[in-house]
Amino acid sequence: MNFKNAFLCFFYTIFLCSVIYSCSSALYEPDSKNVKNGTLLSELKEGREIYIRKCSSCHNLHLPEKYSESEWDHWLEIMAKKAQLTKQEELKVYKYVTMEKK
Ligand code: HEC
Repeated sequence: MNFKNAFLCFFYTIFLCSVIYSCSSALYEPDSKNVKNGTLLSELKEGREIYIRKCSSCHNLHLPEKYSESEWDHWLEIMAKKAQLTKQEELKVYKYVTMEKK
């Protein structure tokens, strides 16, 4: 491989990594394919809203795919108190962060 190709290859790799990273770090937008098990699309959208509004004041938002359902269950129980969510809000956030996996 000559110098020019190695150079191009290097930048191509960086470009690909940044594209993959920026896609995977976005919080998913719920749409009708996420709606299962009697959950309403509006609940998922509200859950996302509440999650962004109430859960980002102390730390960065954690991506839904980072934790399993039982881990979310565990963390939400603790964090809902910190963020002073009502039971309904907690449930919507829980549905939002776990629905993508179902
Ligand atoms: C009042 C501040 C505060 C608010 C509001 C808050 N958190 Fe947290 N969160 C923390 C602190 C502090 C920790 C880490 C300490 C710990 O282990 O309890 C943490 C840790 C976490 C973790 C675990 C990170 C790890 O260690 O893997 C998750 C997940 C999380 N928060 C989600 C949420 C969600 C969801 C909400 C909204 C319902 C929220 N947080 C709102 C303070 C907050």
